[in-house]
Amino acid sequence: MTIPLFSLEGKVAIITGASRGIGRAIALGYASAGAQLVIASRSIPDLDKAAHEVSKLGHGPLIVPTDITKKEEVENLIRKTVEQFGRIDIMVNDPGMTINKPVLDTNEAEWDTIMNTNLRSFYLLCRACAPVMREKKSGSIINMASPAGYRLVPRMPVYSISKAGVIMLTKALAYELGPHQVRVNAIAPGLADTDFSRMPENNEAYQAKRAQQIPMRRIAQPGDMVGAALYLGSDASQYVNGTVLVVDGGDTM
Ligand SMILES: NC(=O)c1ccc[n+]([C@@H]2O[C@H](COP(=O)([O-])OP(=O)(O)OC[C@H]3O[C@@H](n4cnc5c(N)ncnc54)[C@H](OP(=O)(O)O)[C@@H]3O)[C@@H](O)[C@H]2O)c1
Repeated sequence: MTIPLFSLEGKVAIITGASRGIGRAIALGYASAGAQLVIASRSIPDLDKAAHEVSKLGHGPLIVPTDITKKEEVENLIRKTVEQFGRIDIMVNDPGMTINKPVLDTNEAEWDTIMNTNLRSFYLLCRACAPVMREKKSGSIINMASPAGYRLVPRMPVYSISKAGVIMLTKALAYELGPHQVRVNAIAPGLADTDFSRMPENNEAYQAKRAQQIPMRRIAQPGDMVGAALYLGSDASQYVNGTVLVVDGGDTM
């Protein structure tokens, strides 16, 4: 049972990056809390698998395959959602990627790929969704940031720069949309056990070493982000705007 303030019953939520990792965990959490989901990412088989799991917990989701770096596909995602449900109460902007190189060794194509996936896409998603939420005078946008947006991670500086951008995008939009009762917040997950973090440099030895540096002595599981996403998406956070909720076991002090 979900207590009323945290219930998502009657709310329509778009979750991008819902097929794997943190986005998938949030989709399952939101389905359990009663939300009607619209799930998006690029791989249709992965989306179908996630939709099957979501359907076991709650309403059957609308699947809209979307590459969030493409403006037309982002606009299609918003259009399809409004056509089907007439509203968007929550939008979770999740996908992200990294490249592990010094800034000065990064070429323009690599820079553009990271910025397009991590930052420009969130701008496109927020811009497309904002008029729908503004018209209803209600809505919650949640952007997936990272502690790397506050504190330079020297081996992934371009990622850090993009996530610093996500944090400032969140604050700027919280300022612009606040008067319309639309809230914009971010979650900054600590190192979590997902495909994203299973890059060769993050082998088991590295993850074990990192776990020992975290006050809670473990890295995160994707499900550790669900409570924060539920809080920020639900009426429990109805006066929370422009904040970044760090969920990292106390790693960023
Ligand atoms: N895992 C960590 O340690 C960690 C730590 C801090 C912050 N974060 C942030 O948390 C977010 C989620 O990370 P994760 O670890 O859950 O990643 P993940 O396991 O790699 O999952 C990424 C999800 O995003 C989708 N996606 C990727 N590129 C996309 C695109 N261009 N258009 C649409 N969907 C796309 C993927 O599906 P398709 O490939 O099929 O599109 C997948 O569903 C990211 O923003 C990441 O930066 C992660």
